[in-house]
Amino acid sequence: MASNMIMIKFLLFSLFLYYIFPLLTSQVLPPYPYPDIQGSWQLLHESVGISAMHMQLLHDNKVIIFDRTDFGPSNLSLPAGVCRIDPSDTVLKTDCTAHSILYDINTNAFRPLMVQTDTWCSSGAVLPNGTLVQTGGYNDGDHNIRSFTPCYNGNCDWIEFPQALLERRWYASNQILPDGRIIIVGGRRQFNYEFYPQNMEDRSSGSSSNHLFLLDFLRVTNDYHQMENNLYPFLHLLPDGNLFIFANTRSILLDYNQNQVLREFPPIPGDEPRNYPSSGSSVMLPLDDSNIDPEIMVCGGAPRGSYPQAMEGNFIRATSTCGRLKVSHANPSWVMEDMPVPRVMSDMILLPTGDVLIINGGELGTAGWELGRGPITRPLIYHPLSNDWRFSVMSPSPRPRMYHSSAILLTDGRILIGGSNPHVFYNFTNVEFPTDLSLESFSPPYLSPQYDSILDVKNFSPAPNTYGLSIVGPSTAAIAPPGYYLLFLVHAGTPSSGMWVKIE
Ligand SMILES: *[C@@H]1O[C@H](CO)[C@@H](O)[C@H](O)[C@H]1NC(C)=O
Ligand SMILES: *[C@@H]1O[C@H](CO)[C@@H](O)[C@H](O)[C@H]1NC(C)=O
Ligand SMILES: *[C@@H]1O[C@H](CO)[C@@H](O)[C@H](O)[C@H]1NC(C)=O
Repeated sequence: MASNMIMIKFLLFSLFLYYIFPLLTSQVLPPYPYPDIQGSWQLLHESVGISAMHMQLLHDNKVIIFDRTDFGPSNLSLPAGVCRIDPSDTVLKTDCTAHSILYDINTNAFRPLMVQTDTWCSSGAVLPNGTLVQTGGYNDGDHNIRSFTPCYNGNCDWIEFPQALLERRWYASNQILPDGRIIIVGGRRQFNYEFYPQNMEDRSSGSSSNHLFLLDFLRVTNDYHQMENNLYPFLHLLPDGNLFIFANTRSILLDYNQNQVLREFPPIPGDEPRNYPSSGSSVMLPLDDSNIDPEIMVCGGAPRGSYPQAMEGNFIRATSTCGRLKVSHANPSWVMEDMPVPRVMSDMILLPTGDVLIINGGELGTAGWELGRGPITRPLIYHPLSNDWRFSVMSPSPRPRMYHSSAILLTDGRILIGGSNPHVFYNFTNVEFPTDLSLESFSPPYLSPQYDSILDVKNFSPAPNTYGLSIVGPSTAAIAPPGYYLLFLVHAGTPSSGMWVKIE
């Protein structure tokens, strides 16, 4: 069949977790050996009226974006006559501006949404049915759950469930599980985890404490004098169904059903914390369903002491290392590599090609109000399978993306980037790193016409021929929990546009 000349990869993607299944893969293509192809930037909006602190792609190709309600007025009005009246807001008790929008990838248009309580440093995950569940936040939002369900009439908005969490969840992390529940782990001064949904029947009997599970690992990694350094723990669901949790410099394997720590992995070398405010980032590298060998990669962070030093005006150089750990091996050890520049407050995103984009952040200081310096505007592309060189340096954006910035993969293979607001309010003048309300996209080299011609992609023309493909999906729900995923076809290093598929 003609299709055996096609290199196909099947990329599945959900919130914070990506998997790749090479199917008819015959060879590994070299990464971008062409220094003149470094991707390109496009400004989508000078201002969308809010600063993109949090973003989530939904399966109707819209992106829900939000920041926090306690910034004071944003630069986007709610529809006429609509205001949020919130006696517990710390800045504006009556606020007629939006703190959330819905952005449409296809039309580049957006509309304001109404978020009721403070979503600052909240966390979320997408349910198997495509509804976003966002948990916690700050102040009046810290025990709340909000949901957002895509709709086709343009009327959908956030729905708020007050006091739905057992504990305050500020800087917690969430992960969708094989049975469709969401696990919510940690948060500031929370050495425990809970689930969404809880078992409501049991809860009505009044014994809600049954549903809160203590996790001492979060206590022992909590470095109080360093502003904790274990917030927003990194979570990865492993193919064996257990949960990998990384906090500070340490990591464990948790059986969340039995509340048992099954393994503790060696600490990442260097004693440099990787979690907020020493914020690095992590990914699970692409999985090959025919040879499952899960590998976690953690990049960037900030040395111990960086936070108190930054408070005094000393902006210490961030961590330049990445570590890779094969978490199913009997005695795994971290394999360390150096990024071309140190980086804190970065985002890592799996690309349809199986490479990893490292984007946003700075070279000095930490996360936190006014505590970062030295913006790094050039993304990196990391090639996990390459033997000789692993990091390609991309072209720079004109805009720094510091604390409270974000980046996500879009359906068409571009990256959407927004946010950056290291100030307690919206401040546009007389500050380093003014509040950024813009949206940009970054097109990786695989979207460049030059890239196509160098690799002779044009010789591959599906039309007028039609190719039939049989695709083997992920084999278990632990590899791909139920939900909506993007399916990409990759030929000669160039991905197709993603197609939404629902795995049940
Ligand atoms: C936001 O609104 C303020 C106050 O009206 C204005 O000074 C500022 O320039 C606006 N910023 C952007 C990016 O639109
Ligand atoms: C998905 O499930 C949640 C929780 O049961 C529910 O609130 C939401 O409306 C559902 N979404 C859809 C699209 O049915
Ligand atoms: C930021 O803006 C707020 C309110 O608009 C103002 O009170 C504050 O002084 C500004 N901060 C800086 C660093 O300029």
